[in-house]
Amino acid sequence: MSNPALLILYGSQTGTAQDTAQRLARQAQRRRLRVRVMPLDDYNVADLISESLVVFVCSTTGQGDPPDNMKNFWRFLFKKSLPVGSLSRLDCAILGLGDSSYPKFNFVAKKLHKRLLQLGACVLLPVGLTRVNMKMVESLLLVLPPTYTFHFLDDMQEKEEVRLRIPMDQTVPSQSHPFPARMVFNRRVTEPLHFQDVRHIELDVTGSNIEFAAGDVVMMRPCNAPEDVQQFCQLLRLDPETRFTLSPTDNTAVYLSVPAWLPQPCTVRHLVESYLDIAAVPRRSFFELLSTFATNELEREKLAEFSSAAGQDELHSYCNRPRRTVLEVLADFPHTTAELKVDYLLDLFPEIQPRSFSIASSLRAHPNRIQVLVAVVRYKTKLYKPRKGLCSSWLASLDPAQGDVYVPLWVKKGSLKFPSEKETPVIMVGPGTGVAPFRSALQERTTEGKTANVLFFGCRSESKDFYFRSEWEEMMEAGFLTLFTAFSRDQEAKVYVQHRVRENGELLWDLIANKNACFYIAGNAKQMPASVCDALKEAFQQVGGVSAEEAEQMLATMEKTGRFQSETWS
Ligand code: 2AM
Repeated sequence: MSNPALLILYGSQTGTAQDTAQRLARQAQRRRLRVRVMPLDDYNVADLISESLVVFVCSTTGQGDPPDNMKNFWRFLFKKSLPVGSLSRLDCAILGLGDSSYPKFNFVAKKLHKRLLQLGACVLLPVGLTRVNMKMVESLLLVLPPTYTFHFLDDMQEKEEVRLRIPMDQTVPSQSHPFPARMVFNRRVTEPLHFQDVRHIELDVTGSNIEFAAGDVVMMRPCNAPEDVQQFCQLLRLDPETRFTLSPTDNTAVYLSVPAWLPQPCTVRHLVESYLDIAAVPRRSFFELLSTFATNELEREKLAEFSSAAGQDELHSYCNRPRRTVLEVLADFPHTTAELKVDYLLDLFPEIQPRSFSIASSLRAHPNRIQVLVAVVRYKTKLYKPRKGLCSSWLASLDPAQGDVYVPLWVKKGSLKFPSEKETPVIMVGPGTGVAPFRSALQERTTEGKTANVLFFGCRSESKDFYFRSEWEEMMEAGFLTLFTAFSRDQEAKVYVQHRVRENGELLWDLIANKNACFYIAGNAKQMPASVCDALKEAFQQVGGVSAEEAEQMLATMEKTGRFQSETWS
């Protein structure tokens, strides 16, 4: 096989860069280019020296970090030992995806650009920096063969049980080889009538080789709800019990990865339940492909409009603003949906993306277990049915009392690191589920005899969502914890964690200025972290007598030296 002409490599955290890379690939393929597309970490980087044309599509995560599926590539590319000029045969283009409201907007694409130039590559186009997409991927129509062909098995063929593959001994579970962890318990920790459902969940990871420290996160693959799977199969006229195997339609065409953990043969039910993201808000490429199947005049017109550059505002109002799901869109286009050819399932529907949760326990306190604290996401839009978070709703629906249930997972280093020196105090601010990583840290530190721990916890009401209360009280009695609480709705005026930080300026100043304490914030982003920082800086000024600039500088220095850390999510 001769070398394909165009290589598209992507680094994607939430799937947007992957979707863009795949759209690009389809467009290039329509122009009869030979294309390969894959995550950067699936590519053997050493082969770059013999490539002639590569497009890199990368997003940026966290504080200017590369996405998980390009981390190895990133490490390799920045090795000092790589000779300058080693990529002199390479022509490339870089497409960065990011949100310009972040300070580290497109940091990865910019840094990649610099490094490729340094290594001698010729960058053909100016770096494309965009929030969603650019002309490169506009106006593409998809009349391509499906990436995979389904081979349906008849009933006479030997039945094989469909289940998650358990990784081999010695391997550490990863995205491509998640570990099926048995759920041990799933407890609601908010008062039964309280509007918010928060779950404390324990998972058994015995035999998984999983290790983690306080601050690390667990990644989970959620499944679609059974009623959604059923509705999907009805709309597409699929029998959920049908079994099939998959093979690439054309070995030299676009490679979309089928996850290693998708069993073969597989039932339609299993594929839809655990792989196809039918609860996601569909992307434009979905409408593009869907429109190619439409024969009903009305539906075709509407889908063509949604696929066009001019129809993007309309698409936004129809889909993104009300958070309409793939499944709901399919129900709105029943004729087209009924015409969908099964071979295109993997092209049409994105893969369910894993979700991350801060681990709320420590291995010392709970050997072979991972505990998480999950707020069940539900919100309203203009649509009649409330919107549900796929992963949290799925987790909440699992009941280990009804029989064994398994959650496919792996763990990842988190951004919070706790000091190893015994005497260094830690100050932790974790309202709501933000307390999760601090529970893990406290469990770990308690077993290590580290007593200097201060926790600021905030919730709505002392009687409704003050979870882990008895655990904190035990730690306080044992001399391991100083706790400050802020119950926002137990009185007329709101009381938040930042108010408690402000009130305890003396203590905080003493711990930070005199005892070298580390300061942590975790929780739901929005205003909270900024308000807590403001409160801290005020305390520096009032108690420490420093100026506003000096207070700002102190916090910046703490951040640089790892003494101020935050992990926020939305
Ligand atoms: P509220 O919902 O009553 O406004 C955990 O979710 C806690 O964080 C709740 O008590 C919530 O209060 C509070 N919270 C909401 N917005 C906040 C903010 N900007 N700063 C600090 N805490 C906040």
